Amino acid sequence: MARRSSASVDFILTDPPYVAGYRDRTGRTVAGDDNAVWLKPAFAQMYRLLKPDAFCVSFYGWPKAELFLAAWREAGFRAAGHLVFRKRYSSSSAFVQYRHEQAYLLIKGRPARPSTPLPDVLDWSYTGNRLHPTQKPVGILRPLIEAFSAPGDLVLDPFCGSGSTLIAAQELGRRYAGIELDPQHHRTACQRLRPGLPFDVMNEGSEFRNDAPAGILSKPADPQPA
Ligand SMILES: C[S@@+](CC[C@H](N)C(=O)[O-])C[C@H]1O[C@@H](n2cnc3c(N)ncnc32)[C@H](O)[C@@H]1O
Repeated sequence: MARRSSASVDFILTDPPYVAGYRDRTGRTVAGDDNAVWLKPAFAQMYRLLKPDAFCVSFYGWPKAELFLAAWREAGFRAAGHLVFRKRYSSSSAFVQYRHEQAYLLIKGRPARPSTPLPDVLDWSYTGNRLHPTQKPVGILRPLIEAFSAPGDLVLDPFCGSGSTLIAAQELGRRYAGIELDPQHHRTACQRLRPGLPFDVMNEGSEFRNDAPAGILSKPADPQPA
């Protein structure tokens, strides 16, 4: 992210690690999920990259809400809404059954209000996590991209995993950029994206941990009509 130009992105939709030490039944883990050192630098960069008067939607893990809220506030974002995605099943249970995912709608500056605001409770669908241990359903990302960006806009997901955000953006005629640390997920994202359309998925190594050079796949965006 540090190499990209300031105020160059129209909308950020991201699903960062939840800082939850996640491990699924088969032992799969998520890089960066065991620490929060990346959290503040990452959101500071996202704020810098976002154009003025624009939106960022970030999923987060509720047990670490205070860490995420502090990082967003310190970066300069203001909270403008809270989205709940209702599951028809429980992903696990303790004192209650866990039946939702959640995301904050964050703003930089003063973006215009959408003409038809999205409900802040939406239905979730299960992916089976076949392509990624915490794979987000493309179908729940689409309405977010539709509501907070316009066709031709550049959508960024700096924690893109298997590329779910990028696919939703591609389907909706947005340009997109994704960053993914794990080479296997980076490959999956590249394979899932329909070839022949503009893409830019970078496997950057962890710019928050080292400067390892990485395979960068990029194609220039289609020229925009004058
Ligand atoms: C919650 S997962 C995203 C899953 C994605 N929404 C999907 O549907 O596949 C977060 C992703 O961030 C990646 N990640 C963690 N630290 C990173 C970093 N410093 N830079 C880029 N990606 C990172 C992890 O490898 C993981 O794939």
